[in-house]
Amino acid sequence: MVPSTNFLLFLFFFSVFFLSGTSRRTKVGAAGVRLNLDGGITLDGASRGKLTSPSQATQRLSLISRHLDQRLPLPELNTPFSTERNSLPSDDLEYNPLHRSTTITTPLPPPFSSSPNTSTSTIMSTQAPHSTLLIPGPIEFDDAVLQSMAHYAESHVGPGFVKTFGETLSMVRKLFQSTDPAAQPIVVSGSGTLGWDIVASNLVEKGENALVLHTGYFADSFATCLETYGANATQIKAPIGDRPSFEQIEQALKEKPYKVVTITHVDTSTGVLSDIKRVAEIVRRVSPETLVVVDGVCSVGCEEIAFDAWDIDVVLTASQKAIGCPPGLSILMLSGRAVNVFQNRKTPPAAYYASLANWLPIMKNYESFKPSYFATPATQLVHALHTTLSQITARPMPERFAAHAQASARVKAAIEGLGLQQLAAKPENQAHAMTAIWLPEGLAAPDVLPGLLKRGVIFAAGLHKECPTKYIRFGHMGVSVTDPARKDIDNALAALKDALADAKQAKGL
Ligand SMILES: Cc1ncc(COP(=O)(O)O)c(C=O)c1O
Repeated sequence: MVPSTNFLLFLFFFSVFFLSGTSRRTKVGAAGVRLNLDGGITLDGASRGKLTSPSQATQRLSLISRHLDQRLPLPELNTPFSTERNSLPSDDLEYNPLHRSTTITTPLPPPFSSSPNTSTSTIMSTQAPHSTLLIPGPIEFDDAVLQSMAHYAESHVGPGFVKTFGETLSMVRKLFQSTDPAAQPIVVSGSGTLGWDIVASNLVEKGENALVLHTGYFADSFATCLETYGANATQIKAPIGDRPSFEQIEQALKEKPYKVVTITHVDTSTGVLSDIKRVAEIVRRVSPETLVVVDGVCSVGCEEIAFDAWDIDVVLTASQKAIGCPPGLSILMLSGRAVNVFQNRKTPPAAYYASLANWLPIMKNYESFKPSYFATPATQLVHALHTTLSQITARPMPERFAAHAQASARVKAAIEGLGLQQLAAKPENQAHAMTAIWLPEGLAAPDVLPGLLKRGVIFAAGLHKECPTKYIRFGHMGVSVTDPARKDIDNALAALKDALADAKQAKGL
């Protein structure tokens, strides 16, 4: 019988460490060392007594058992020899072997007190009871998506993960309804904000013009990001709840050359939806070379986006909103035109982690199932993204957009029924992912949000810097919309009605 590689490796390291006596600091008798089933090492009492120094022994054993725990042939740089030669004991952290437990911990009770018939905590789920998160992102997550985060450790360049990442990137194309091979999906560890940095550092050069269409807080921030990398950002600002007119946009494009036009598809601070299809048409007609950049952080996965058909150049988004994956991934789709603009830059990008020079080849490789490394991907998050995108793309995207539009219509009708108004007054300006609701005169967000929480529902306060306490925001995306068994929307509307009544009564209104 041929001994396994692992066994040969073990014999090799064992004999070098314990039998040759080459250690500079510790002498351990081989007879006193026992390899545990979990890969750790135990000394018998007599052998412990023979050690020159107990603390040195702990440090040394820490190094040895860490290596053995991996139970795999070692990559060259990770042998006990190189660790021994290259690090001082003080560099090393004490290693406590992992003891896996099968005990199931009892979930904590929900962080609110309410009578059972008014509680709306999630019950159709294996998740611990919790108040339903209906802010405009992060949103509630599907059990299967969360469970994929518990994937065991694997190499980010091993065949298993490479396959998962490659498939994930192909599904990002489907999410954007794109079949253009020149377009390129990108998934990088980071939040939605990293998408702004990627655009600002790669697609615009110092001194070039950017036109920012402002429908709320997030346009101000995107403009600041563009300026950080040296662009001249011009904003067209609309009154709160409205959006710049098509005439204003056309006029601005005729006045000077713009490298990019940025549009926030849904501004999460106001709930205003922009017509990105119409804006892209105007840009192509008036200034065909200008790149159309969409901030889709609060729209991708619930608002219609036909990336190729609408001739869009960049959509940037994040994992935690309508895509339904925990926060931590920055997701972008770039057109062939955008990739060309990057490749023909006159100056190198003023960013390192955000540089497309680093990421484009990596993404192409992963999508062709070739292992590749620039910076370590968030492997567990990519598994979660794979799961949620598998669910989303299993059905036609128009079905998903329609489900969000229906839920949104239901919410907006109920809001109106309560005598409340939205920041986005015109129906064509109203997002389907969320609703930003003006509070009645005399009430502020802190008067209403605790009443909602008491009923197991979490909404967000306002975010627009001119009126943050005068309104609240209700996010209706992802599983809260697509899984009717959860009843999240109905429960939230009932909770809102009661919380408002309580708040009015408390204020004598
Ligand atoms: C429209 C919009 N753009 C950008 C961002 C920034 O994304 P992140 O918070 O993931 O960095 C957000 C966050 O809510 C957003 O709503």
